[in-house]
Amino acid sequence: MIETDFLVIGSGVAGLSYALKVAEFGRVTIITKKKIYKTNTALAQGGVAAVFSKTDSFENHVADTLAAGDGLCAEDVVRMVVENGPERIRELVDLGAQFNLNGDGKYDFSLGREGGHSQNRIIHARDLTGKEIEDVLVSSVEQHENITILENRVAVNLITYSTSVRSGLVRTQHENICCGAYVLDNNTGKVETVAAKVTLLATGGGSKVYLYTSNPDTATGDGIAMAYRAGATVANMEFVQFHPTCLFHPEAKNFLISEAVRGEGAYLIDETGNRFMGKYSPDLELACRDVVARAIDNELKKTGADSVFLDITHKDPDFVRERFPNIYAKCLTFGIDITKQPIPIVPAAHYMCGGVATDLNGHTDIQSLYAVGETACTGLHGANRLASNSLLEALVYAHNAAQSSLKEFEKAAKKSTVDLEPWDETNTLDGDEAIMVTHNWDEIRRLMWNYVGIVRSDKRLHRAQRRIEMIQHEIEEYYWDFKITADLIELRNIAVVAELIIKSALMRKESRGLHYNLWYPEKDDANYLMSTLVRKTF
Ligand code: SIN
Repeated sequence: MIETDFLVIGSGVAGLSYALKVAEFGRVTIITKKKIYKTNTALAQGGVAAVFSKTDSFENHVADTLAAGDGLCAEDVVRMVVENGPERIRELVDLGAQFNLNGDGKYDFSLGREGGHSQNRIIHARDLTGKEIEDVLVSSVEQHENITILENRVAVNLITYSTSVRSGLVRTQHENICCGAYVLDNNTGKVETVAAKVTLLATGGGSKVYLYTSNPDTATGDGIAMAYRAGATVANMEFVQFHPTCLFHPEAKNFLISEAVRGEGAYLIDETGNRFMGKYSPDLELACRDVVARAIDNELKKTGADSVFLDITHKDPDFVRERFPNIYAKCLTFGIDITKQPIPIVPAAHYMCGGVATDLNGHTDIQSLYAVGETACTGLHGANRLASNSLLEALVYAHNAAQSSLKEFEKAAKKSTVDLEPWDETNTLDGDEAIMVTHNWDEIRRLMWNYVGIVRSDKRLHRAQRRIEMIQHEIEEYYWDFKITADLIELRNIAVVAELIIKSALMRKESRGLHYNLWYPEKDDANYLMSTLVRKTF
């Protein structure tokens, strides 16, 4: 048994910023699935949206976020995040983060533009913003004496007073309080019991549930699935953001072409060189992501082409190479010189606007359990996230959650500790059917892409729901009979994420933001101007 004050599950911007803040007050254990820096944060290209320009204002940023969110943002949350953003960014700079600047002032940022923003407000480090932030945070947590980092660990289930050891199914009379997690040590294959006074879920999203995604293999929605199994409310899972521009190349796995490229003036063109966004939005290439992704999807379906193209060849090649060194170099490895040729692109699953429902402090409806970053649904994004608002949200909520956790920690310190049962694997065998895991992984990702993608219908959703139910049944049988592995845990989680997206999509009989249903193509404010909430029934 490992005992800690604060258990942080995940090592992206949300988990590491939180860890640094609470480490001043107690012992922190960070668990992460691979190496600490292998996170979605480290891949973020575009930047962090925040108000620094003299011509910008909090009101403008609030208005743009609300417009993108298509009626479902919580305005108090939007205001709080926007107003606290600049302070959180200054903290990062003070930790050592180096963003592109205009002049010598350390906060005189060179501000980029992205879709849906009425002003230039994207703070960036060329096209490697996430890596810059991750590197600074990793080096700070590695030096902190109160922080222990456990790599190659995969959380299996949360431990709550009201769950049984293995299934997470048995309820008792106790209130639901989180006391840590069972964690698979992938080095030894053993499941450890980690007891914690406060637990933070910062595991990112679950876009790996789709066949095509900009996300790394680790994005399997572990935090969302664990919280749901433990009884937390999950919100707005139907709103999956498809990024319009991912590189289309047989050997390019998950490579994003940042929206900042369009922000710097790139055009979207079809195979014949025609700019097509004029047919879809007066904002052309800088319309919100849902609009651009649906436009591309429509062009591809209409023409039968494999991809459309992003063209920045009309810009000065030196500027392009300097502004987008990562994208330039990566495309060149596939034989595409972006200063001379248009880039073949397709939309791919990118970000989950839904997640574990939290309050303004990132607290879930399970006591002592917080969720921050893409794992959470705070109310900031509504039905569609404004570009570059996600790193911002993670920074602001990590701060709020840390402040609130300290109070939880003090309360918990006064209570007597609970005896946690160790993980029970009696009567389980070594797995002999790895094919069940790989087959179901593939099937889920393909059916989610085909039936629950950018354009949906109730018929497709029901078809997907039936298949997911069968797959989940198989997974549960396997889960009970065999020793667990990292792949099995991720499969089980991705199946829950699929279940939640489908269930939520079926509950929303309208089209809004990122959710487009052919059977209900209009918005229905009278009946659906609210979040979709799902909670497990025990
Ligand atoms: C991008 O660089 O296009 C991604 C930024 C974001 O998802 O906010």
